[in-house]
Amino acid sequence: MIQIGQSVDAVDPTAAQLDARRFNRHTFWCGQSGSGKTYALGVVLEQLLLGTRLPLIILDPNADFVRMNEVRAGVDPVVAAQLKDTDVRILRSGDAPGERLLVRFLDLGLRSKAAVLRLDPLLDAEEYNVLLHLEEEVTALSRNQQSLAQHLRSADDPGRRKLLLRLENLGILDWDVWAWGGSSTEDIVDTRPRATVMDLSGFRSHWEPKVAALAVLDHLWATREQRQPALIVIDEAHNLCTAEPLTPVDAALTERIIQIAAEGRKYGLWLLLSTQRPSKIHPNALSQCDNLALMKMSSPHDLAELADYFGYAPADLLARSPYFTQGQALFAGGFVPEASVVQIAGRLTQEGGSDVAVPM
Ligand SMILES: Nc1ncnc2c1ncn2[C@@H]1O[C@H](COP(=O)(O)OP(=O)(O)O)[C@@H](O)[C@H]1O
Ligand SMILES: [Mg+2]
Repeated sequence: MIQIGQSVDAVDPTAAQLDARRFNRHTFWCGQSGSGKTYALGVVLEQLLLGTRLPLIILDPNADFVRMNEVRAGVDPVVAAQLKDTDVRILRSGDAPGERLLVRFLDLGLRSKAAVLRLDPLLDAEEYNVLLHLEEEVTALSRNQQSLAQHLRSADDPGRRKLLLRLENLGILDWDVWAWGGSSTEDIVDTRPRATVMDLSGFRSHWEPKVAALAVLDHLWATREQRQPALIVIDEAHNLCTAEPLTPVDAALTERIIQIAAEGRKYGLWLLLSTQRPSKIHPNALSQCDNLALMKMSSPHDLAELADYFGYAPADLLARSPYFTQGQALFAGGFVPEASVVQIAGRLTQEGGSDVAVPM
């Protein structure tokens, strides 16, 4: 059991606990913007670091977890020492200093590669066919942008030429997210650090964070037979598992997450999806969640939807959600012995995030 705060309803202050073993199910974390989801999620992830050996892979759209390796002042020295000894890898994007968040194009599944290139197997038959065979060739290539471009340029083959034009015209060769031949996030994830924080916030194009997520999720899926457990935490999950995918990349991502939601459990791939509104997440992912954390949510419509999906959450507790104060959460489902409302404890590590303070 991990400690996450105090029960709100107990007559005497009682420690609230989650059954960490039950993170071997998918979890849905919901609450309106500002309700304290990210903060509270951090409290639970810290306790998972301290109390289990479960590797965490955190897809972090707002750089909220990039200081998870920095312990706050005033934390019990024994706990602080344990946290400092924990292998937390922070992978940054954009201009932020630190280790880079990089992924390999070749680790994308074929469907994802085609989505990134916006290729259709029939309408773009020639180029698609080049893509099919690229895999075998590229391993033999030296490992930089020029050589991929040169490789495609050198061949006297219209399919390759067209694929090169496509890569150049879409600006894909210039993305900062590519590892080319270097070490990638997939390599790091393979070593199963206790936590891998993927900062998706700093990329120049809006495609790159999604492609980074897709490459890592595709890789975890491709290697699923190794049955190495991991908790995949997706904050603001409606960006990656959207109810209404508009682009091929969105569709590929959403499908991959739904597949992990449907079949991942037997391979040890567990999801924790956090969002402001249940209706923004694809229902096929939502319906697979056996654990629920609900923070303040005022919309009756959203609460009614939650009641539909999460029959195990008692109606009288759901009805209290609009009146929750910051840091209060209802926990229901397999990871609590009994559904209850909890006041979340304080964080042990620093919050990241990039809220701009009002100049005074
Ligand atoms: N339990 C808490 N104790 C202290 N500050 C909190 C707590 N929960 C949230 N906050 C603060 O409130 C703000 C919003 O919280 P956040 O977790 O980012 O909300 P959300 O992710 O739901 O939008 C943040 O600045 C955070 O530091
Ligand atoms: Mg948040």
